[in-house]
Amino acid sequence: MAVFHVILSWTALFLLLLIFISFLGYCLYVKHIHRKYDHIPGPPRDNFLFGHSPTFLRLMKKDDIIHDKFLEWAETYGPVCRINVLHYVAIIVTCPEATKEILMSPKYPKDIFYSKIFNLFGQRFLGNGLITARDHEKWYKQRRIMDPAFSSLYLRGLTGTFNERAEKLMTTLTDVADNMTEGSMLHLMNSFTLDVIAKVAFGVDLDLQKDRLIFPEAIETCLKGMLYKARDIFYEYKLKNRPFIKKVREACRLLRTTGAKWINDRKTAMQNGDDVPKDILTQIIKSAGKEESMTKEDEELMLDNFVTFFIAGQETTANQLAFCIMELGRHPDILEKVKKEVDDVIGMKQEISDDDLGKLVYLSQVLKETLRMYSTAPGTSRDVLEDIVIDGIHIPGGVSCFFSSHATGRMEKFFKDPLTFDPDRFHPDAPKPYYCYFPFALGPRSCLGQNFAQMEAKVVMAKLLQRFDFPLVPGQTFDIVDTGTLRPKSGVVCSVRHRDQNK
Ligand code: HEM
Repeated sequence: MAVFHVILSWTALFLLLLIFISFLGYCLYVKHIHRKYDHIPGPPRDNFLFGHSPTFLRLMKKDDIIHDKFLEWAETYGPVCRINVLHYVAIIVTCPEATKEILMSPKYPKDIFYSKIFNLFGQRFLGNGLITARDHEKWYKQRRIMDPAFSSLYLRGLTGTFNERAEKLMTTLTDVADNMTEGSMLHLMNSFTLDVIAKVAFGVDLDLQKDRLIFPEAIETCLKGMLYKARDIFYEYKLKNRPFIKKVREACRLLRTTGAKWINDRKTAMQNGDDVPKDILTQIIKSAGKEESMTKEDEELMLDNFVTFFIAGQETTANQLAFCIMELGRHPDILEKVKKEVDDVIGMKQEISDDDLGKLVYLSQVLKETLRMYSTAPGTSRDVLEDIVIDGIHIPGGVSCFFSSHATGRMEKFFKDPLTFDPDRFHPDAPKPYYCYFPFALGPRSCLGQNFAQMEAKVVMAKLLQRFDFPLVPGQTFDIVDTGTLRPKSGVVCSVRHRDQNK
């Protein structure tokens, strides 16, 4: 027995020694990384091991926006700013030349963050879909198949559906106006963009009474899950987070099982020889390969892309529309000007044509300025594996580069009086911003749905401006919430009235 105890204590001692030596070795490695990158300017680390991670945790606890911190650091430390977390090094880049070089080239893959959202807490989430695929060949194959569903010819054919779905929203707004009540524009726009993406991308008519509650909530839960996982390396190991983690897994599962059902329904329709639209769902099914040779992974990839489009195609546009309404509510002169344009171009017409959309130039400017101040998908990141020089600073390879369109959109050196909402910055004759305005990212991995989103936004804004006044209910905040994407905290509550109802 005594011998047994001695062996046990020696084993324990040996294990402790091993852990201690490994830890020491790891600390030496972290020290080596600091030495290698510390010539790059950056804020002081909170501590040796966790680097700037405690700052991110503090921001998260206070519901502050991490991109505001990036902006502050970029203003203080310059166009290349270093961040450390354990042995990882990331650089916040606000230098237009480097933004151009890195984002425009296929040479720089998406960084490790994108593999973190392959699954959320053990439940597959965006997998290897279009947003998350890091391997260029795998991504390119999918993107080529998806392109036809976003060609200008195909999108022009969608104007009717955008009109029809926007009319449904107008009916809801008419009820709000008739009853002289108030409405959260964020909420209403979320239902609208959900309705659009379900119909246009997947050919499904949603039951908005039920679905407008469960899907946006599931999307928000997944986005938050993504955010917490990315910003707190220990999030999933903390006991108090278990209930939320369970909720995130359920939300991911809900989106994926919905995808599986809608994909199966479409496949059955295809097998029955029914006339199916050449929409995003058809392309998703095509991207997975032939039915006979379809592997489990092919099936998972279809679901990855289903979830990718469901999320990418809904939330960001709804948030942009809500921010746009918020800013119009704060700027009566801009509101009058854009209303006048809508009256001149579409008058009393109910069906807005593609030609009309082209003539709504000032409305486009308003929407672009909205995304400058409120970049609803606020940034992207790339791996820089080989040495590079940015703004005269040598960056040894092996770092992640962050590009924050929220930060660059709000920097005085790129946009004079950046906190002033001024659509004339995007006047067709004004000089184009040089690689400092990229709400849809840039280059090969830029947003596939950019034109889709802006057509959809213009149709619904034109109808709203044509028919309603929507003053902001006084006393609400104009703050932003960071849920991975950026959204207005207040929900943008407006007293919706028929135009000139109160005159
Ligand atoms: C205002 C609305 C939108 C904004 C601000 C926006 C922004 C972005 C940004 C910044 C990216 C790059 C993401 C990254 O690098 O992590 C992206 C990618 C993407 N977006 Fe959007 N998006 C919007 C609407 C849409 C819509 C409506 C769709 C689909 C119908 C869509 C589909 C996609 C897809 C598929 C990608 C991945 C592209 C690729 O890597 O090939 N987006 N979007």
